[in-house]
Amino acid sequence: MSQHAERSHWGSRWSFMLATAGSAIGLGNIWKLPYMIGVNGGSAFVLVFLLCIFFVGIPLMMTEILLGRRAQKNPFNGMQALAAEARVSRSWKYLGGVGMITGLLILGFYSVIGGWVLSYIYYAAVGTFTEINGAQSTANFNALLASPLTLLFWHTFFMLLTMGVVARGVNSGLEKANNILIPALFMILLILLGYSMSVGDMHLAAQFMFNPDFGKITPVSVLSALGHAFFSLSLGMGSVMVYGSYLQRNVSIACTTIYIALIDTALGLLVGLAIYALVFANHLPVASGPGLIFQTLPIAFGHMPAGSFIGTLFFILVAFAAWTSSISLVEPATAWLVENKEMKRSSAAWLIGITVWLLGVTVLLSFNEWKGIDIIFGLNVFETLDKLTSTILLPLGGLFMAIFAGYFMRKTHVQEELNLSNRAFDLWRFTNNIVAPIAIGAVFLYLFGVIH
Ligand code: PFF
Repeated sequence: MSQHAERSHWGSRWSFMLATAGSAIGLGNIWKLPYMIGVNGGSAFVLVFLLCIFFVGIPLMMTEILLGRRAQKNPFNGMQALAAEARVSRSWKYLGGVGMITGLLILGFYSVIGGWVLSYIYYAAVGTFTEINGAQSTANFNALLASPLTLLFWHTFFMLLTMGVVARGVNSGLEKANNILIPALFMILLILLGYSMSVGDMHLAAQFMFNPDFGKITPVSVLSALGHAFFSLSLGMGSVMVYGSYLQRNVSIACTTIYIALIDTALGLLVGLAIYALVFANHLPVASGPGLIFQTLPIAFGHMPAGSFIGTLFFILVAFAAWTSSISLVEPATAWLVENKEMKRSSAAWLIGITVWLLGVTVLLSFNEWKGIDIIFGLNVFETLDKLTSTILLPLGGLFMAIFAGYFMRKTHVQEELNLSNRAFDLWRFTNNIVAPIAIGAVFLYLFGVIH
């Protein structure tokens, strides 16, 4: 993909799919979903998450792509142009602006976790996991968290990888690599799943994740599930809009969206199963939080045949998935600085890179030196950024996009982009105009204490 002022288009529908899937598939699936399932009561969370993906995520992904393709611009200018076309207030451009900032806030912690993954490539390769048990694995992970300098090194490394690509604007090579790497990630997950099935407790894992227990659904699990549906599909901040702006006119937005959402969701659930089978077999705590995969998977790699090799490969693939997602997090802001502020692409990338790097330093300190420091409601820097972006900013961005496309744009313009049969169009309109806004609105009302 080229990001220069003139707008090039994806070579094929396939490259758009790969780029968007590359943005969607990342730490959200492999690191975050598994631990959120554990923290939020297992199946109760999974069920609500799936409902959110189908009834909110899929329609809103279609919305975000259609906005991008119609606008053919970065989110800020794009919303301005769409508002002009719909003859409504230009202030809609700020929706694009907030999205750009959200992306940078997410990258602030995403990059620190990306650093953890890089460090685990190294540990796997040098054989640290060989014959490791649960207690040793937890101790290794805690030692990593306790060392600000080690975290700083890996966070810096991850930021350099990300901004290096963004600065050059040569994402196309990376996107092509997705062609091999996403299937490779699936393959290695199947190996892991096979291993977990043979030594782990798959029965308990499946029960924990899929046995519907409606009684366990709480307002907090709904809130987290909705936020994670946005995070996992990269919705609500303009990444998908930017990618949509490069999509050719003759490609079906609906089919593409459904493929991406299915791949993204399936991948996350597979990782979850593999992990919980090990958690139950090794009597590890289910709700161990953000460290979950880093504590459980080494046990598997430490005992399986060719474990060091498979473990190294696994963490390389995860790092790659995180890398393609992190690039999409900065793409809206970079495109804006280049197109609106006439900055050179490399200067824009460095400016953003240094800002986010500094933010990341505050995040990594929240795992050690600043652990006890509360920013708001007893949350440290990492938790604040995570909650603020996933549960507030992304759903809010999605809500406004839905409202804009559903109530402000001309219906004919929307249908021109979606190009659906009448029935399918009505279904999209119903979910976009009514279901999604009510679901997101209800969650916000709860959050602000209006409904309990
Ligand atoms: N979807 C990515 C993941 O699951 O890891 C994270 C992400 C990327 C969120 C891009 C938002 C975004 F705009």
